[in-house]
Amino acid sequence: MKRLNLAILISGRGSNMAALLKAAAAPDYPARPVLVLSNRPDALGLETALAAGVQAVAVDHKPFGKDREAFERAMDTALVGAGTQIIALAGFMRVLTPWFVEKWQGRMINIHPSLLPKYKGLDTHQRALDAGETEVGATVHWVSPGVDDGEIIQQASLPILPGDTADTLAARLLPLEHALYPEALARACTRIAQAD
Ligand code: GRF
Repeated sequence: MKRLNLAILISGRGSNMAALLKAAAAPDYPARPVLVLSNRPDALGLETALAAGVQAVAVDHKPFGKDREAFERAMDTALVGAGTQIIALAGFMRVLTPWFVEKWQGRMINIHPSLLPKYKGLDTHQRALDAGETEVGATVHWVSPGVDDGEIIQQASLPILPGDTADTLAARLLPLEHALYPEALARACTRIAQAD
């Protein structure tokens, strides 16, 4: 299968990004990283990407103020310039406008730390604990105009144990996310390749 040019969007430490880069180091993985982009210039993940030999840039959202679309046009220029064919959001903490989502629809996926459709948005684990759930999880999904709303590609789950807090759940879930995301991205690539 032809490898799709992959861009990964981050805002922070980028551990999911690192898991994707590691998987994509295999020559038969269906995506080839061409760009890591952060909206925060101080994101730790930028250094990790550079150390892995991947082009890494910051497009700071702050100078754009409230003009989200202007920020996204700057991101889009970098993405198109790198030849991006699929985008993976990995801890990217900006809500995207319909303009950007529609432009990349069918070519953009996200990892969210809940068993969607439950607990869209923030504080997912605390909300699951408060609701008396017995499990938490993570979901990789296609990005659609609604926040955390697109078609589900793949999920992983974890039982809630006595004494668990939002922090212990996040820590136990992270290795599952790192296994889930590369698998789900590979599935997404297969879907795009079939459609192309
Ligand atoms: C992960 O929990 C992911 O599910 C969520 O944001 C977190 C990002 O962590 N979307 P990292 O930057 O990948 O380490």
